[in-house]
Amino acid sequence: MFSLSPEGVEFVKKECSRYETKHSAIIPSLYRVQKEKGWVPPEAVPYLSELTGLPESHINEVLSFYTMFNKKPVGKLHVQVCANISCAMNGGRELAEHLCKHFGVKDGEISKDGKITVSKVECLGSCGTAPMMQVNDQFIENLTPELALRKLKEMGV
Ligand code: FES
Repeated sequence: MFSLSPEGVEFVKKECSRYETKHSAIIPSLYRVQKEKGWVPPEAVPYLSELTGLPESHINEVLSFYTMFNKKPVGKLHVQVCANISCAMNGGRELAEHLCKHFGVKDGEISKDGKITVSKVECLGSCGTAPMMQVNDQFIENLTPELALRKLKEMGV
């Protein structure tokens, strides 16, 4: 059965009382789920609905709209490589393919050891420092394949 930690429950309750409407607590609550579980499993929606008193449909609307929520499990490090125009023109797509090949994974797949998922994504809003990748919460910019691998090695893969 799905549940958040006691601290997570407390966090969601606090967020609900913090804003004028409880709907504003949906994004931080979904983030909390992702922080604790690594992704947002479908069972989190009825759980948050019960906890916040908000309809499941409202939580699902937010969850399905925003791409920053992982709707399926990811590796310990989720490497999102931007493949949009500025990054693509500066080698972003080749970078993603290089990382997939290096770690023996397909786009969006978890490595066998569970350590990494490499996903090609749309613009992450860092176009001036292309190509770039987001690793969990961290942006790493002006990449080359060698620099990307070095940074990931420093993070433990
Ligand atoms: S195009 Fe890559 S961050 Fe915008």
